[in-house]
Amino acid sequence: MERGKVYIETYGCQMNVNDTEVIFSILAKAGYTRTENMDEADIIMANTCSIRDNAEQRIWGRIDQFYGCKRLREGVVTGIVGCMAERLKDKLLESGRVDFVAGPDSYRSLPEMLARIAPGRPQINVELSREETYADIEPVRIDKNGVSAFISIMRGCNNACSYCVVPYTRGAERSRAPETIIREACGLFGRGYKEVTLLGQNVDSYLWHREGGTDVDFADLLEGVASISPQLRVRFSTSHPKDISDKVIFTMAKYPNICRHIHLPVQSGSDTMLVKMRRRYTREWYLGRVAKIREVMPDCAITTDIIAGFCGETLQDHQDTLSIMREVGYDYAYMFQYSERPGTLAARNYPDDVSPEEKTRRLNEIIALQNELSLESNRRDVGKTFTVLVEGPSRRNPADSCGRASNNKMCVFPSVGPESVKAPAPGDYVDVKVMSCTSATLICERV
Ligand code: 5AD
Ligand code: SF4
Repeated sequence: MERGKVYIETYGCQMNVNDTEVIFSILAKAGYTRTENMDEADIIMANTCSIRDNAEQRIWGRIDQFYGCKRLREGVVTGIVGCMAERLKDKLLESGRVDFVAGPDSYRSLPEMLARIAPGRPQINVELSREETYADIEPVRIDKNGVSAFISIMRGCNNACSYCVVPYTRGAERSRAPETIIREACGLFGRGYKEVTLLGQNVDSYLWHREGGTDVDFADLLEGVASISPQLRVRFSTSHPKDISDKVIFTMAKYPNICRHIHLPVQSGSDTMLVKMRRRYTREWYLGRVAKIREVMPDCAITTDIIAGFCGETLQDHQDTLSIMREVGYDYAYMFQYSERPGTLAARNYPDDVSPEEKTRRLNEIIALQNELSLESNRRDVGKTFTVLVEGPSRRNPADSCGRASNNKMCVFPSVGPESVKAPAPGDYVDVKVMSCTSATLICERV
């Protein structure tokens, strides 16, 4: 039965992108089709993010636009799903602009909710679950090139980082059965995919408990996925510095197809801030983990997340962040100014006392330093050869191809070499030599 066209706009993390794929799968089974054009959609929704205030502000703007579509075309239904739905359910319904609100654990009920919507009868389900992992649902892949896909291996989070809203919007941590993960990865590889990224808020605490059998931890899972084929690349995100184990590091080293990249959010280089943030590691511990990674895999890229201007951050704390960045020499970083999230431990316990101007100033210093570090890191790769998984033509110059090296760096190179080799197709592996670089890209030639 043809039920209507669905348009979904996705905000936030990779986990949200994967959730959108799960939603499309659930709605397709119920007879809905997908559209990328909001103007022809019968159902318009945003899969939202609450991690920082500016993410939410942007989405409120979109809600107004969706409402505009609804007023122009009769029968259009609009909704908000994901983290913001969980956090702002009442406000969203009160706005009178949305017909449904669904939290991250209630996507199975979307077809039912959509069927029940009537004028003046908005639908809401923001129940969080202790079990839901959508393990049996095969996500509809929305990526364009069919090369690389995300697989959620767990949901929710049991850490209590004081700045973070995720435990409230996504609920408690639960792991997904390893067989379902391996099956999904095998299926993707069978359909031509060459890379899977295993996703979780804290992958190192993945644990599947088997009654009367042996438990499966993250290293075991990684090994299982890597064993599918040497032609299938495996990535994962996010690692927590307090939990990343030697077993995981050694497992990575054992399999060349587990990519040489660890995203290891440090957040701050100051022990005082780390305690207040409830990260449960020290600067020294963090540097110890980095040293271990480098000892076992000298070619492993390390990237991070940093928050500038957390509650009570002094100039010395800020300097400690700059100095740990230099000490590690991050290959890449996602950098943010602290944004107080209502209901979190920090919001309840500490004043948000670094002024907005000062936060911006510190953030700009952090960004400037990271630009230098990224450039230095890329310069170190000049002259090396890498195997690149081709994604397709480069956006800048269609005569070039682009793709990522194992260390996650973007490589651009002429599609056709001097000996007029055939242009590579998305999903091909090609060997390239790095000739020069910018802070964002390695400029290469085929070898
Ligand atoms: N303010 C600023 N940045 C935040 N992050 C999480 N919560 C906040 C917040 N309240 C950042 C952290 C995290 C990344 C996903 O987002 O650096 O690792
Ligand atoms: Fe992802 Fe966190 Fe944003 Fe939710 S709040 S979408 S979990 S980044």
